[in-house]
Amino acid sequence: MGTIIDGKRISDNLKEEMKAQVVALERQYGRRPGLAVIIVGENPASQVYVRNKVRAAEFVGLRSVQVTLPESTPEADLLAQIRRLNEDPAIDGVLVQLPLPAHINEEKVIDTIALEKDVDGFHPGNVGALWLGKPCTLPCTPKGCLHLIQTTGIELRGALAVVIGRSNIVGKPMAKLLLDQHATVIMAHSRTRNLGELTRQADIIVAAVGKRNLVTADMVKPGAVVIDVGMNRDDEGHLCGDVDFAGVKEVAGFVTPVPGGVGPMTITMLIQNTLDSFIKRESKKQ
Ligand code: GUN
Repeated sequence: MGTIIDGKRISDNLKEEMKAQVVALERQYGRRPGLAVIIVGENPASQVYVRNKVRAAEFVGLRSVQVTLPESTPEADLLAQIRRLNEDPAIDGVLVQLPLPAHINEEKVIDTIALEKDVDGFHPGNVGALWLGKPCTLPCTPKGCLHLIQTTGIELRGALAVVIGRSNIVGKPMAKLLLDQHATVIMAHSRTRNLGELTRQADIIVAAVGKRNLVTADMVKPGAVVIDVGMNRDDEGHLCGDVDFAGVKEVAGFVTPVPGGVGPMTITMLIQNTLDSFIKRESKKQ
């Protein structure tokens, strides 16, 4: 049986380190890093994510602000809230939880967040910098996945990685992060033919589609690292990923569980991005 990558424990350890770092930062700069999280509407999954983000922020000692807006909020009001937080010197990170209600233009919202406060790494300025190999804020989920992959000790140089899913939030940036580690990357997606033929050759599989049992044991090379970004519900309503965990853990060298794998790491990377943003902003003042 393969090793289960304990994302919860890894992220708990990182948060403990960050908690101590926040104490030191406050001593040095006279204020704590501040994170603002905006949620529009009552999407139950989004409410859980936002609650967990605010909880983590408070755990490490950040100044945390949650802005809860009704589903019917006009786009202009949301943009005004973002601009207000952009101007607030006590806030270092501004995050708008996605998805947004249909009447709000997501692109416009992301563009309105100040580049220096974009702790999600979704702003075109950060996305462009990532693809040009310039310093940038990395999106939290792929950043967390790379961290988990690196804990296995696998040699990424020359390894074959198959990333399944091509979203702007996970699949595309994940592929770029693996390329930067000198992996050979195949970007697969819902239209990919013979997915199993590709994944069976892979040293690393990252599944980020949102489809239960997409990756089964017969699709995994013995010893491979399998990272499950999926967040689905099974027939009994239990949280599950894109990977058939019970089967795949018998074949893979390493596999992340759902829950307790990638999810906690995403939140921890958000906190790390906020600390980095704080340090960058404070250093500019010197
Ligand atoms: N919705 C799903 N994942 C994310 C994320 O990482 N950030 C934001 N803002 N919304 C999301």
